[in-house]
Amino acid sequence: MVNRQIQLAQYPDGIPTEQDFRMVDSPRPVPEAEQVLCRTRWLSLDPYMRSQIAGRHLSGSVGPGDVMRGETVSEVVESGSPAFKAGELVRCMGGWQQWSLHDAGELSAVHPGIQPPSYALSLLGMTGLTAWAGMVWQAGVQAGDRVLIPAVTGGVGAAAAQFCRLRGAAVIGLAGGPEKCRHAVQELGVSACIDRHAEDIPARLSELFPDGIDVYFDLVGGELLTQASERLALHGRVVLCGLMSEYNQAQRAPGPPPGFWIRARAVVTGLVVYDYEDRREEFVRQCLPDLEAGRLRQREDLSHGLDSAPAAFCRLMRGENFGKVIVALD
Ligand SMILES: NC(=O)c1ccc[n+]([C@@H]2O[C@H](COP(=O)([O-])OP(=O)(O)OC[C@H]3O[C@@H](n4cnc5c(N)ncnc54)[C@H](OP(=O)(O)O)[C@@H]3O)[C@@H](O)[C@H]2O)c1
Repeated sequence: MVNRQIQLAQYPDGIPTEQDFRMVDSPRPVPEAEQVLCRTRWLSLDPYMRSQIAGRHLSGSVGPGDVMRGETVSEVVESGSPAFKAGELVRCMGGWQQWSLHDAGELSAVHPGIQPPSYALSLLGMTGLTAWAGMVWQAGVQAGDRVLIPAVTGGVGAAAAQFCRLRGAAVIGLAGGPEKCRHAVQELGVSACIDRHAEDIPARLSELFPDGIDVYFDLVGGELLTQASERLALHGRVVLCGLMSEYNQAQRAPGPPPGFWIRARAVVTGLVVYDYEDRREEFVRQCLPDLEAGRLRQREDLSHGLDSAPAAFCRLMRGENFGKVIVALD
């Protein structure tokens, strides 16, 4: 009758370490009338959690003593709601814990076509929806576009690269290390992948985009945003989505000179995936056939057991994950 949970133990200094988290055992929650008791099956680990810890995320903050928040695919164990029955899989904010209690309105049924169900947290979940909203709805990527995507083997990046490729665009990726770059070319179908640890990025961008970048999906911020903005083609689009290069830092980085965007007559948009929640079903409907036909793939950076979550999250924040970071609970 125990609920194992992971709390933030202390604020990290820079990149988080495992000592910043602690495991606690609490009593398993007991549902009241109409509540739904869920057992966590898969937990999604995402960079926004670092921003919640820093108190800089629009979804709110997490402090020492708080259970870490997170989206999960969970199994309904007891239900006081006619909308859900025991055994059903649901998507919810279950958090870094074995058990969670919800009102029915906080739960969404996992589409039975999403297999394995953990993909409801990745390719056909939040990271996929982010990629679709950025590349399809905001940038309007189409055949012939030359697209640059950093962190291209990660959750959002890999989904974005595949969506662009299926629309006939040419994608150049960036990734950390030769193994990730090989995967990007061979499995995700990008035309070329720049190893951000080993190559001269500005020189490679100039070489690979002789006529400029049509679409830049900014998942990292920092110097790359400036380098990509400087090389935009006329009417280029920049989708500002994430700041991987600065989440571990106390100071915010300065941006590129606006002249780069004026010269290109660029369209620069900010993306918050929560704004697209009411279009999630439309996105799943569009992508499910491609998943079922094997045209879309998801590499998961999977670890097992709740106790593996702090180490997996620290690896993510060091940029060492290879694929969407998921924790499978027993
Ligand atoms: N705006 C929104 O609504 C929204 C929604 C979801 C995600 N996001 C953002 O999208 C980005 C990608 O998220 P994700 O969940 O898919 O993560 P992810 O790509 O699976 O993991 C992050 C990756 O970023 C790369 N990276 C690049 N520069 C880095 C640096 N300086 N330090 C550490 N890592 C670095 C690393 O890959 P390489 O080593 O291979 O480069 C790392 O594996 C994040 O910025 C996230 O906050 C935004």
